[in-house]
Order: sequence, then C-alpha cells, then structure tokens
Amino acid sequence: MSDGGVLLDIRGLRVRFPMRGRGPVCAVNGVDLTLRKGESLGIVGESGCGKSVTFSSVMRLVQSPPAVLEGEILLDGRDVMRMSGAELRRMRGKEIAMIFQEPMTSLNPVMRVGKQIIETLRLHESLSEKQAEEKALEYFQMVEIPDARSRFWCYPHQLSGGLRQRVMIAMALICNPRVLLADEPTTALDVTIQAQILELLGRLRRKNDMSVVLITHDLCVIAQLAERVAVFYAGRVVEEASAGELFANPMHPYTMGLLRCVPTMRTVSRRLDMIEGNIPDPACLPAGCAFHPRCPFAADVCREQAPEKRFFGERRFAACHRAGEVG
Ligand SMILES: Nc1ncnc2c1ncn2[C@@H]1O[C@H](COP(=O)(O)OP(=O)(O)O)[C@@H](O)[C@H]1O
Ligand SMILES: [Mg+2]
Repeated sequence: MSDGGVLLDIRGLRVRFPMRGRGPVCAVNGVDLTLRKGESLGIVGESGCGKSVTFSSVMRLVQSPPAVLEGEILLDGRDVMRMSGAELRRMRGKEIAMIFQEPMTSLNPVMRVGKQIIETLRLHESLSEKQAEEKALEYFQMVEIPDARSRFWCYPHQLSGGLRQRVMIAMALICNPRVLLADEPTTALDVTIQAQILELLGRLRRKNDMSVVLITHDLCVIAQLAERVAVFYAGRVVEEASAGELFANPMHPYTMGLLRCVPTMRTVSRRLDMIEGNIPDPACLPAGCAFHPRCPFAADVCREQAPEKRFFGERRFAACHRAGEVG
C-alpha cells in the first residue's frame, strides 16, 4: 500500500512546443505531483489536457529542443531533467517503464514477441540467451498469456489486442521497475478485456510492490485501479484527492462534470451528460481560470485571476476560486 516515501516528485513542470508563425502550444503549465512507493495514482482528464506530455517528459521522451521543458522531475532525489544519455537508458525499463494505448507502436512488427522481450531483458541484465528465454517465458505466464509457450514465437500481428497488451506489460515488468507508467493501456480494448487487464495490473502492482501511474480519459478505469487521483485540465492539476473522496465529494466543477459523464445503472438508458464546450486551444489559453468558459459557476474573479490551490486536507485540493462553495 502507499505508506512509503516519495519516489517520483514532479515540481513546477512546464512543457511548451514552439510553433512556426504563431504562439507556442503550452501543453503543460505548472504541474506538481508526487508518487509514493507502492502507490497507484490515477491521472484523468479529457483528451488534450497534457497527460501524455507530462509523463512522456518523466521518461524524457519529449524531444527537447524543439520542446522547452522547465521544472524538476526527481526520481528518488535525482533530477531526470539532468540525466545523461547513459543514465536515462539505465532508468528506462529498470526504474521506470511505460506502456501505451497501442502496443503495435512499441512492438516491432517483424520480430517475434518472445525475441523482443529477450532483447529487452539482455539490454539490462547479463544473462545467456537460454536464461533470458526462461525468464521471458516465466513473465509470459505471469501476465497470463494462455498457451504462453506457443504464443512466445508469434509475430505481434498474430496476437489479439488484449494479448499484445499483455506482451507489453510483460516487457515493461521484466526488469522489475519500481514505477510503471500506463498511458491509456486499455483504451483500445473492449470492456471485458479492459477489466481483465486492469485486474492483472492491480495484482502485479501488489506482488512486485510497484508504484503505478494510470493515465486515462475514463473515470471508470480510475475507479478500478487508482487509490489517488489527479484531475488534469489545460496542462494543470485542477484537483487531487483519494479516489474515494474524489468520487464521493468532487470539489472542482470540472471533476463534477467528468463524474456526470460516467454511466451508472440509472443513466445507461438515457443520453449521458457531457461537459459543454471543448478544452481550450493550448496555443491560446483563456485568461483567469482555463475552465471558466465552460464552468457553470464562473464568477468575475474566475475570468480575471488564475486560481491557486485550495487545500482541504493533506494532498486534497482543488484549484478553483469557488471550491468549497459550490457542488
Ligand atoms: N510534439 C508536439 N508538438 C506540438 N504539440 C504537441 C506535441 N505533443 C503534444 N502536443 C499538444 O499538447 C497538448 C497535450 O497533449 P497530450 O499530453 O497528448 O494530451 P492528453 O494525453 O491529455 O490527451 C495537445 O494539445 C497536443 O496537441
Ligand atoms: Mg494521451
């Protein structure tokens, strides 16, 4: 469980992409987040809110230049932003691993999946081909790939989406990372397979005493796996709380809106509510609170001043002028 110290500490992260002939795209606008040992943190927000850019920055997968990154990303006290190429290669896979929505983008289509996982393993550990194969096969069984031995020598296209995601998870976990970043890992899958994969991730997290960051646009996914939740909007964390508190008592109008979009037994039969309007263009963010044009509670102050975080407990805040008054 999450009683450990801070493992990953993101402080004041800003990421912008300069654009030819117009203002920069401000994808991340001052994110502070901590991940503790063994914790499962859910990151939720509509598409385009800066979730992937934030965590790709943690992996240093955002190419800079052209991107401009500011702030600190501390992994056990070491700043990822200052790591050399060699340190980054050691960090990736061995300390932090990342999985994505579409395993086909990370898997090599012309190499058998077993071979790929063996190569990943041998990059980090000095094992013979035979030892690596044994261990890889063990991981195929651990992620519950049925008939693992024969699947091991398949090409990615010969596997279903669910099995490919299991292969990705095996590959991510094989070097025993302390942090797993899972970016929309089940978005491409149907609900039944999605639930199985989330359940598997939950079990592996406990078994390996690993911290997990689960990134999704879907609160139902959060409910299945996350203990804590950070809600992203326009490149900022607008609310943070334990999952229980967030679902029971959302403080930010954006979170309230997201929750109204979640289907329940009562709403399945009728049209779901949607948050009216769209997320703002990150090249041209509104003044004041970035959510104000869509917020049913917006007052003058919301149009003029960016809200500070209002705390309602340790690690429980909403960045909203009206937090605590409305709901
Ligand atoms: N390489 C890039 N160049 C320019 N804009 C980018 C780049 N990568 C992401 N963006 C923009 O940054 C914003 C945040 O993107 P992203 O983090 O992928 O959102 P999310 O993962 O929350 O859906 C989006 O507007 C996206 O178009
Ligand atoms: Mg994304």
